[in-house]
Amino acid sequence: MAQKEPWQRTRTCGELGLDTVGEVVVLDGWVQRRRDHGGLIFIDLRDRSGIVQVVFSPERSKDAFHSAEQVRNEYVLAVRGSVRRRPEGTANPKLSTGEVEVLADAVWVLNAAKTPPFYIEEKVDVDESVRLRYRYLDLRRPELKRNLMLRHRAAKVVRDFLDAHGFLEIETPMLTRSTPEGARDFLVPSRLNPGEFYALPQSPQLFKQLLMAAGMEKYFQIVRCFRDEDLRADRQPEFTQIDIEMSFITPHDIQQLMEEMMAAVFKETIGRELALPFPRISYHEAMERYGSDKPDLRFGLPLVDAAPAFAGTEIKVFQTVLAQGGRIKGINAKGCAGFTRREIDELTAVVTQLGAKGLAWIALEGDGHLRSPLAKVLRATEAAELKRLFAAEPGDLLLLVAADAHTVALALGQLRLFLGQKLGLIDPQALAFTWVTDFPLFEWSEEEGRYVAMHHPFTSPREDDLPFLESEPGKVRAKAYDLVLNGVEVGGGSVRIHTRAVQEKMFRALGITPEEAQAKFGFLLEAFEYGTPPHGGIAFGFDRLVMLLAGEESIRDVIAFPKTASGTCLLTGAPASVEPRQLAELHIKTTRS
Ligand code: AMO
Repeated sequence: MAQKEPWQRTRTCGELGLDTVGEVVVLDGWVQRRRDHGGLIFIDLRDRSGIVQVVFSPERSKDAFHSAEQVRNEYVLAVRGSVRRRPEGTANPKLSTGEVEVLADAVWVLNAAKTPPFYIEEKVDVDESVRLRYRYLDLRRPELKRNLMLRHRAAKVVRDFLDAHGFLEIETPMLTRSTPEGARDFLVPSRLNPGEFYALPQSPQLFKQLLMAAGMEKYFQIVRCFRDEDLRADRQPEFTQIDIEMSFITPHDIQQLMEEMMAAVFKETIGRELALPFPRISYHEAMERYGSDKPDLRFGLPLVDAAPAFAGTEIKVFQTVLAQGGRIKGINAKGCAGFTRREIDELTAVVTQLGAKGLAWIALEGDGHLRSPLAKVLRATEAAELKRLFAAEPGDLLLLVAADAHTVALALGQLRLFLGQKLGLIDPQALAFTWVTDFPLFEWSEEEGRYVAMHHPFTSPREDDLPFLESEPGKVRAKAYDLVLNGVEVGGGSVRIHTRAVQEKMFRALGITPEEAQAKFGFLLEAFEYGTPPHGGIAFGFDRLVMLLAGEESIRDVIAFPKTASGTCLLTGAPASVEPRQLAELHIKTTRS
């Protein structure tokens, strides 16, 4: 065995405790803090495992004491000393090592450090751009370090679980053809094939299907995916999926196995037991009751259809909306009849931002009296019917939106989330999982003036809806499912099409010509003709999952080196311009100078 250098650690800081008292140890780490107390110097030494207090006294070692006088925060040190119980009354219950300290007899300064631009400690209040610019310092902070450890652990649990269930981890290409998942592609120019481009994968969708054609039966991959889309707190241009595919299965089989996997992940990372099976809700019901295909089920406040109360109404706006085939729906904000004008304006702003013309409100005062801008025009029969529909009681506030179905769902779905927050109805400890099932196969794209695939074009229609594939695409339901946790879509998948005939029909319904289908997906269509088994799968957003496990609000906090909202890396300065020579080699000219 190779000899250790004298400055190499024998122990980690975090593992020291009463059981190591008396031991001579060498520790390697960073200076968290130095305090001079006259004749003694205290250094809190930090490594990945934790922090321990080191004491320097001139009696013990003059050299070590003088070296300790020179060090500053974030210097990298090796310290040799003996572990001792802290003197009576000086234990620090906030530190796991707080009952002991190390009395130093030698120190090596392994590297100096400039004063960091922010404190390396929990909950620093510093602009995120500074944290991202110095990410390697940010990652020294306890919460980010914890998040990365949690991420590692979650990936390990997933790998072990899938391995135990017979899945093979197989890598798929990063330089590939475009796979349509609904976002823009990142393109990579080919030097050897002038004028041609690879696309970075938006997901390994087609390759995992080809692996099923290849007879791999159970595949998984923890894999980077790339999507050039507008970024938000839960979206990055490159992100990680737990990508899964299986042959000879039904949606139920996949869902059941994935529930077990989630239970293992939550138990083994954060010690939470999940109740299985997860509830299931159809897309239709999710939209009707919660105005969202990723409903947050940690609280109630369901959307209620108010149209029956207004069948013969004289209220003009309601008449018009109903005549145009629109919807009138609302939420009963229980006990909120006392909301002030300002609070109601605040609620109104939520719905008008999403395209609603306004928010109609009816407060049921304690004495049964109605307070509402509609009070004069609302008939007694309408009021009574509303009370019945919303199970309203004195003290409640009814909030109504009338518009086309899409706007009503969007506006009230958001209003529901807003109220859930405002009224403190969300238990931060709750883990509300749900499967959302029976998605429509297509959605109408106003922008493109055609139907587009709601999941992706390889999702299988339900057999009973197959006859409508070309005649009434809007009616066809898919064998698709999403997994939602606390209002966040953590995963989505489907049973796939596995025959050429159905896939060709699907392309036709999407307005893709046979020539285009052949050019882009000919290899898949061909594979379907060589004995592709029925198959299906799912992919989880791994970053989102870890974000929820860690209780963070942004996936940036669980990614080591994330990008900003404008897709830049503040640390390395990517993206950046390149040498003209490189562009010339790639046969590329930019139109920007
Ligand atoms: P989908 O497009 O639904 O499905 O993606 C699966 C999951 O990936 C996560 N996700 C993202 N996370 C962070 N940043 C992003 N930009 C981002 N985009 C998506 C979400 C989402 O649920 N091939 C299919 C899966 C399949 O059918 O098996 C697919 O990629 O949590």
